[in-house]
Amino acid sequence: MASKVLFLLLVLAICSTFVFCNAGGSKKKSHYKHKGGWGHGHGHGPRGHDSYEPEYDGGLKNDFYRKSCPRAEEIVQTVTSRHVTSNPNLPAKLIRVLFHDCFVRGCDASVLLNSTGNSTSEKDANTNRNLEGFNVIDDIKSEIEKECKGIVSCADILTLATRDAVSLQYGRPLWKVPTGRRDGTISIASEASANIPSGASNFTVLVNNFASKNLTVRDLVALSGAHTIGVGHCNFVSRRLFNFTGRGDQDPSLNPKYADFLRTQCRDPADRTTTVEMDPGSSLSFDNHYFKILKEHKGLFVSDAALLTDDKAREFALQLLNPKMFFDEFAKSMEKMGAIGVLTGSQGQIRNKCSLVN
Ligand code: HEM
Ligand SMILES: *[C@@H]1O[C@H](CO)[C@@H](O)[C@H](O)[C@H]1NC(C)=O
Ligand SMILES: *[C@@H]1O[C@H](CO)[C@@H](O)[C@H](O)[C@H]1NC(C)=O
Ligand SMILES: *[C@@H]1O[C@H](CO)[C@@H](O)[C@H](O)[C@H]1NC(C)=O
Ligand SMILES: *[C@@H]1O[C@H](CO)[C@@H](O)[C@H](O)[C@H]1NC(C)=O
Ligand SMILES: *[C@@H]1O[C@H](CO)[C@@H](O)[C@H](O)[C@H]1NC(C)=O
Repeated sequence: MASKVLFLLLVLAICSTFVFCNAGGSKKKSHYKHKGGWGHGHGHGPRGHDSYEPEYDGGLKNDFYRKSCPRAEEIVQTVTSRHVTSNPNLPAKLIRVLFHDCFVRGCDASVLLNSTGNSTSEKDANTNRNLEGFNVIDDIKSEIEKECKGIVSCADILTLATRDAVSLQYGRPLWKVPTGRRDGTISIASEASANIPSGASNFTVLVNNFASKNLTVRDLVALSGAHTIGVGHCNFVSRRLFNFTGRGDQDPSLNPKYADFLRTQCRDPADRTTTVEMDPGSSLSFDNHYFKILKEHKGLFVSDAALLTDDKAREFALQLLNPKMFFDEFAKSMEKMGAIGVLTGSQGQIRNKCSLVN
């Protein structure tokens, strides 16, 4: 495990050096043309996905801003890399923000809007209380506005930045992000609570929730693999540890040794501030390790454990123990998630500030 962490740090160090050189030399020709600023074939990590054509892109286009703002994707990548280098938790933060955006009114950046005098926005819903990374999106947006005013949507910035943040450890994009999304003008807290599944959800609830976004059981399983990075707060786990059925018991579907360990981290059932890694020892590395711990019944939430309660889902989860299979399937499912309910053409608007409707 230690060697894995060392490897990751090394990769991050190399990547950040690279971005530093790239950013410093932005007036000169950079080593690799964008499209990216990404190298190709470093000989490790998953392969690219040039051959995959999305089954459903919702009317999005590859490199939508090629003519209108040619450096848009490069700016997203450069600014994102800078932030990830100083905050390795950021990939987890951003991908969760994107999930919570796309599941409510589609990927329209509605999660980025601030509450107004009139209404409480998604951002301030309970389920979004722990979301972070908004400042990074704002930073990217202001860099892009300097170059092309009013052209690039916050919805595209969030989707691209998430891909770039998660991909940085591999030095190449892990999935495609066609662009052309427009920004929504409506954000309602109650819609977040209604559309985002809770960590206590059983399999039926999860499948129905994903189906309502045209996502399949395979998408549900693959995308749950995002829990290979990031942390969860103790209060979302305590029922499983202390009082599962109201008789002071623990969740029988949770590995008992792992439950013992978790109780050393989450000592007080009411603790809302302590966090635990969702993929212990590997929570900064985006890989398929989640499926190894899931198989050992160490998935942190009831919603993780639920993936083992259905034959089809369990079988697919076991297939994702194969790294190539995981990276391929995750890429496909992220492309689908990134296309949910997108606004295109003249729908919505291009916000001037991501936290505010124009
Ligand atoms: C299948 C339904 C899902 C449920 C029920 C669920 C539930 C949760 C819960 C309860 C947390 C902990 C939040 C906290 O303690 O602050 C969490 C964290 C997280 N979720 Fe999910 N999630 C689901 C799907 C997804 C998907 C589809 C993605 C992305 C593709 C994702 C990415 C993440 C990440 C990266 C974190 C860690 C965030 C951090 O470190 O701050 N989740 N999720
Ligand atoms: C949105 O809210 C955040 C946090 O409260 C604040 O920092 C930011 O300035 C707000 N955005 C605008 C445009 O007022
Ligand atoms: C509140 O709603 C009214 C009518 O729907 C609108 O004209 C006004 O601009 C809104 N105010 C704020 C602060 O959003
Ligand atoms: C799943 O959860 C829902 C909502 O709590 C509940 O109505 C349903 O009975 C549960 N299904 C199973 C199979 O436990
Ligand atoms: C799901 O697919 C149907 C049929 O193609 C479409 O009408 C609907 O808008 C889609 N829903 C979402 C959330 O993308
Ligand atoms: C455990 O749950 C039961 C039923 O919900 C509740 O009555 C009891 O107070 C809980 N025990 C603790 C220690 O929280």
